Amino acid sequence: MIDEVLVQREAAALMPTYRRQQVAFVRGEGASLWDAEGRRYVDCMAGISMNNVGHCHPAVVAAIAEQAGRLINVSNLYYTEPMIALAEWIRDHSLGGRVFFCNSGAEASEAALKLARKHGAGRPGVVALVDGFHGRTYGALSLTGQPAKQEPFAPLVPGVRHVERDDMAGLEAAVGDDTCAIVLEIVQGECGVHPVPGPMIRLARELADRHGALLIIDEIQTGLSRTGPLFAYQEAGVVPDVMCLAKSLGGGVPIGAIVARPEFDAVFQPGDHGSTFAGGPLACAAALASCAVLADGALQEDVRLKGAALLADLEGLVVDGLATEARGRGLMCAIDLPLPRAADAVEALLAEGFLVNNTSARTIRMLPPLVVDGEDLDALVVALRRVLGGL
Ligand SMILES: Cc1ncc(COP(=O)(O)O)c(C=O)c1O
Repeated sequence: MIDEVLVQREAAALMPTYRRQQVAFVRGEGASLWDAEGRRYVDCMAGISMNNVGHCHPAVVAAIAEQAGRLINVSNLYYTEPMIALAEWIRDHSLGGRVFFCNSGAEASEAALKLARKHGAGRPGVVALVDGFHGRTYGALSLTGQPAKQEPFAPLVPGVRHVERDDMAGLEAAVGDDTCAIVLEIVQGECGVHPVPGPMIRLARELADRHGALLIIDEIQTGLSRTGPLFAYQEAGVVPDVMCLAKSLGGGVPIGAIVARPEFDAVFQPGDHGSTFAGGPLACAAALASCAVLADGALQEDVRLKGAALLADLEGLVVDGLATEARGRGLMCAIDLPLPRAADAVEALLAEGFLVNNTSARTIRMLPPLVVDGEDLDALVVALRRVLGGL
C-alpha cells in the first residue's frame, strides 16, 4: 500500500506533527484517488473539506493552467483583476460588504479577530465555544475551544472565554459590554460534526446586537455548499457580521478570506493587516472556478439528497448496534462508536479503499467531495457495516 522508503524519508525530513494514514497518493479525479500502484480509493474526506469540487475538477484545472501561464502572483502592492472579481463574488453571495484575503483558515480567524478588536477598541473580550476549532496560529488557537491543543503553547491571546455549544445561560453571562466578538461555527466540524443548536446561534446574534459586539461565523468547513446551502448560516436564521472562509474556496489551492457587512467596510485601513501572497491571481482564478461550480443550485440539491440518504444509512448502523449516534448536515457526517476503536476502523476502511477520519477515539467523520457518486456512498456504508461488525 505504501513504499517503506517513502515512510522513512518522511520521518527523517518532516517534523512529526501529523499521524499520517499509510497511503501515498499520486493522482485524483472527482471523489477518486489513486496510489502509486494504481489502486483506487473513494475519498470520503475531500482533504478535510478542501476539495468540495472533487479532485482536479476540469474547470479548476483549466483556470489554474490559464492563469499560471500569464501571471502567478505579484503581491498586494498592485491591482490584479482576479482578486477583485473574487471579492465581488464573495460579497455578492454573502454579506454585501468588503473582503480581506489571506492564505488559510487560521489566517481568516486571525483577520476576523483583528477586525473585531479594532472595531471594538477598548473591549478586548471574545466569546467562543467549547470544542470549536478555528485554527492553530496564536489568535486562532486562542479561539479554538480545545484545551489539549492550547495548553502546550500557553500563554495564549488573552480575553477569550469559552462556553458550551448548548449553554444559553452561560453565553448570556459571558457576553458583556467588554465583548468585541462572539465566534462560532454553525456545525462544529473538528470535534466530530456537532451542530450548534439554532436557539444558541440566534441568542449569539441577539447578544452581539445588544452589546455592540461582532458575530463572527466560521464557515471554513461548513461553507461553500458542504451542508447544502452555499453558506450554513443561510439556514440558521441569522446573518453574521463577519464570515470566515478557506478550505474549499480555492478548489485545493491555498486561499482564505473574511467578508463583513457593509458597516464594517472601513474598519481596516492601510497598514492594519496584510499578507504578501494573499489574493494572488493564481489562487483567485482557482477560487473563481471552484466557487462557480459550488454555487450551483442543482449541485446543492444533490448534496441535500445524498446527505439525507447517507445519514439515513448511518442511522441504520445505530439501529443495528454498530454505532451509538449518527449526525449529519448535507455531506458533513459523523458516527460515534460504542467502543473507542475509531482509529482501527479508519485503518480497516483504508484497507477496503475508503478514506474517512476519526476526530476522537469514538468518532468517525465523513466529508466526501460534493460531486461523489451515490454508489460510492452506498459502497462506503457497506464497508462501514463490515468493518464495524468485525471490530
Ligand atoms: C472551522 C475551521 N476553522 C478554521 C480551520 C483552520 O483552517 P486551516 O487549517 O486552513 O488553518 C479549520 C480547519 O480544519 C476549520 O475546520
